[in-house]
Amino acid sequence: MGTYDLSLRPAREVDSVPIAQLWTEAYVRAGLVPHAEPFTVRKVHDALDQAEVFVADQEGQVVGVVVLAAHGTALASITESSAEEQVCLLAVSAAARRSGVGRALMDACAARAGKRDCAALVLWTRPPQHAAHHLYEALGYHRAPSRDCAPGGHPRLAYRLALSWT
Ligand SMILES: CC(C)(COP(=O)(O)OP(=O)(O)OC[C@H]1O[C@@H](n2cnc3c(N)ncnc32)[C@H](O)[C@@H]1OP(=O)(O)O)[C@@H](O)C(=O)NCCC(=O)NCCS
Repeated sequence: MGTYDLSLRPAREVDSVPIAQLWTEAYVRAGLVPHAEPFTVRKVHDALDQAEVFVADQEGQVVGVVVLAAHGTALASITESSAEEQVCLLAVSAAARRSGVGRALMDACAARAGKRDCAALVLWTRPPQHAAHHLYEALGYHRAPSRDCAPGGHPRLAYRLALSWT
């Protein structure tokens, strides 16, 4: 699958079902989330209300999603000041992986945050998410171990990217 027909855009309410399916496929079915409940449309609506949600649209099909949350909002669990924003819930459909979709969504977050003069992006991931670790390191993120945590005994690894325009 090539990326020539890929468009990135803000998510709309009509995207809620495919986004919930994408998160369920990427996190729950893959066994990454400890409490394996499928993601609900309500969870997508919460994200749309509380943060910016971007989708990768390929020929009318949602093949990727990412959330960008401002400091002080519900999804920004590891930002330390209003100069930081948090990237969450990145997922690309299995069929669309390794074609640049994840990188494009992450770049969109950096560009959007940069427009607000954001100093850094932060995120957390889980130890088995090796593809994600490779992606974040390829994009210049560094580990931020002081922000690691393990709620319920499930470790979360923090990463940070200083945005170069600040
Ligand atoms: C992580 C994820 C979003 C990557 O999406 P993707 O569209 O496949 O990533 P891209 O094609 O843009 O890859 C960009 C770079 O990331 C790295 N990368 C991505 N997947 C990789 C893999 N499986 N192994 C090694 N490196 C990988 C590579 O450096 C790659 O560049 P290259 O293809 O030129 O070598 C996708 O695998 C996914 O949805 N995983 C399940 C959910 C998840 O773990 N989300 C992250 C939450 S923290």
